[in-house]
Amino acid sequence: ASTLGDAAAERGRYFGTAVAANHLGEADYVGTLNREFNSATPENEMKWDALEPQRGQFTFGNADRIVDHAQAQGMDVRGHTLVWHSQLPGWVGSLGTNDLRAAMNNHITTVMGHWRGEIHSWDVVNEAFQDGNSGARRSSPFQDRLGNGYIEEAFRTARAADPNAKLCYNDYNTDGINAKSNAVYNMVADFKQRGVPIDCVGFQSHFNAQSPVPADFQQNLQRFAALGVDVQITELDIEGSGTAQANNYRTVVNACLAVSRCTGITVWGVTDKYSWRSGGTPLLFDGNYNKKPAYDAVLAALGGT
Ligand code: G3I
Repeated sequence: ASTLGDAAAERGRYFGTAVAANHLGEADYVGTLNREFNSATPENEMKWDALEPQRGQFTFGNADRIVDHAQAQGMDVRGHTLVWHSQLPGWVGSLGTNDLRAAMNNHITTVMGHWRGEIHSWDVVNEAFQDGNSGARRSSPFQDRLGNGYIEEAFRTARAADPNAKLCYNDYNTDGINAKSNAVYNMVADFKQRGVPIDCVGFQSHFNAQSPVPADFQQNLQRFAALGVDVQITELDIEGSGTAQANNYRTVVNACLAVSRCTGITVWGVTDKYSWRSGGTPLLFDGNYNKKPAYDAVLAALGGT
């Protein structure tokens, strides 16, 4: 296999990227996307502020453009994300408890219903835990008004809305074994024990000098998989360049390949030119869409040439 998607498919996995609708008119962007990747995650277009800017008024256009493009190319789509404290329109935060509960469930039901049967995996809840050693939940309108039970409620509503979608919990700084990933682990174990519907855990995997690839990355993926969920690397990017960056990417790919329930990898963008890390070079293609050493390392790790 000579592309990331084809090589990953031969290993029983997908290889995806975040996609931004406003770049779909750029020939080099689309050419690289179509050639290399077999899964797409809308980078911002399925977030609450994009889909429901006013209560009950849904705007699906930009996200539909990405889904239509992916489907025409035979790519899977990851849905990102239904319940998140960020990119949340102001009206959500000003609701009282009962209205907020209704709005959360209506958002999940309406959005998942719009693409029912068309989304491979949904990030149902994103980034619900605090950084640091507390293992505590992050403050948000959902946490503060609805309490700990909002995550379970969101997953139950999501299962009813699209029974064929895999339902994921997604977070960052949970890639190694630490207090935050322990808190997520305990939640997933509790959900599995009580029959709360959850199918997968997403590890964002945004790495840089301050937050390098953890030595126990594979071990952490494995312990979650042992709970009976799939694991996915959902937003991979690694700051750096040259051989050092390539080696880090190789480590991440090998960790996924070593865990049978690690079903796929998504990088958080096609080209360094449009990375959310402004000025950074964390992706597999440079600003001119040339393959970087990191690309060669990933392709080789997947068994491609
Ligand atoms: O679309 C508006 C545009 O109309 C406006 O003129 C412009 C001015 O600021 O902003 C544009 O929105 C920006 C949006 O990206 C689209 O480009 C937002 O300001 C900007 O904050 C937003 O950043 C996104 C960020 O999430 C927001 O939290 C990044 O593109 C996106 O890569 C990033 O992705 C997150 C994942 O969803 C969750 N995990 C972490 C990851 C990286 O931060």
